[in-house]
Amino acid sequence: MIRTVTKIEQLSGSPALPADKSISHRAAILAALARGTTKIANYSNALDPQSTLRVLEALGVAAADEESLVRIAGNGLDGFRIPCAPLDCGNSGTTMRLMSGVLSGMPFASRLTGDASLSRRPMRRIASPLRKMGADIQLTDGYAPILIEPVGALRAITYPLPIASAQVKSCVLLAGLFADGPTTVVENMPSRDHTERMMGLSVEQTGTKRRITVEPGMDLPSGSVSIPADFSAAAFFIIAALTVPGSSLLLENVGINPTRSALLDVLREMGGSIELKRKRIEGREPVANLEVRHSRLSGISVDPVLVPNLIDEFPALLVAASQASGKTRITGAEELRHKETDRLLAMASNLSALGAHVDELPDGISIEGGHTLVGTSVDAFDDHRIAMAMGIAGLLAEGKTTIVGAESAAVSFPGFWEELEQLTINN
Ligand code: S3P
Repeated sequence: MIRTVTKIEQLSGSPALPADKSISHRAAILAALARGTTKIANYSNALDPQSTLRVLEALGVAAADEESLVRIAGNGLDGFRIPCAPLDCGNSGTTMRLMSGVLSGMPFASRLTGDASLSRRPMRRIASPLRKMGADIQLTDGYAPILIEPVGALRAITYPLPIASAQVKSCVLLAGLFADGPTTVVENMPSRDHTERMMGLSVEQTGTKRRITVEPGMDLPSGSVSIPADFSAAAFFIIAALTVPGSSLLLENVGINPTRSALLDVLREMGGSIELKRKRIEGREPVANLEVRHSRLSGISVDPVLVPNLIDEFPALLVAASQASGKTRITGAEELRHKETDRLLAMASNLSALGAHVDELPDGISIEGGHTLVGTSVDAFDDHRIAMAMGIAGLLAEGKTTIVGAESAAVSFPGFWEELEQLTINN
């Protein structure tokens, strides 16, 4: 699908945001492993969290969808059925990596597959700790398809995370449910902490170092969960409001977990006006309404320590950097090359095509902001966040910007183009 976006004078309003993708995956997986029914309010209708539901259903878990409520009937840690076909994770790295942890502890074999993009994403990062735990996991040259054979109980380990990755951390913690003793993950750079929050795990923190421990066979709570709006989806509209002159947007009920929202610190340092209203805790997650106004931004060097806590927001941030005065420099972000596409390459190539002054670095990007963007044809690179970042760049570029492969936005934000159009029509 090709979408055309035209330069806009100003934006105002309150776009509807999708439910948090990361929290949705975890809510479904943990509900499936609990005993009893869990009602998940506002479960994400995006393609990735739907892949998780389909995989759980293929494992015999009943998941009923009624309007915005998903009801999952969990049968406990030993309640999965042998799947009769490969488990298709679609485009979803979170589904594949978290479910590999769970399936390593099952008394049956399973095979996980994904689409072309997911089949190019590195899987040794999960196979390595799972093998240390005694799992029998075979990759295809380091990638999916993944074949997991039954081994009986896994071995408890203490695993220092070699990369800041919540997917690897969560994979090991979920496998730890099936181990012969307590399993500990040690992280030096904190990655998103939804899994440990939702499971209520013990976390010891010393400076930035965190030790997270899971007890095998622990009872997971069933009941009711409500999912906040996705900060990573809100990020596109935060950047739109900050960069389109005269704009102001209200973003409601957005998750602001500190391990996810470092973009706010970075944008404030750049001069962005973002106010958090009605800060509250819902479930185990902090939530707020965000009021964002157009601001004059200045380029900064982003502290590499913050990178894991804004890892999904770089495509949006780079659009903001193209509008800031002076240079924005991002380093320590090599992980961006291993997302749905190589996001450093994709953003450097698209922003350059629009006329931005961009230098791609081995582990980051440097942008000299303030150069006029001029609309042209850009590619989504089969990556939802690149598609949406280009949608926002299209609001800023002179004339028309066409985004080829715009449909990939549905991986995390099915209504993105409609919301963007609505804001454009209203102004
Ligand atoms: C996610 C973790 C991040 C993020 C991804 C979702 C999660 O990946 O990029 O979109 O839900 O755990 P890594 O943990 O591999 O950095």
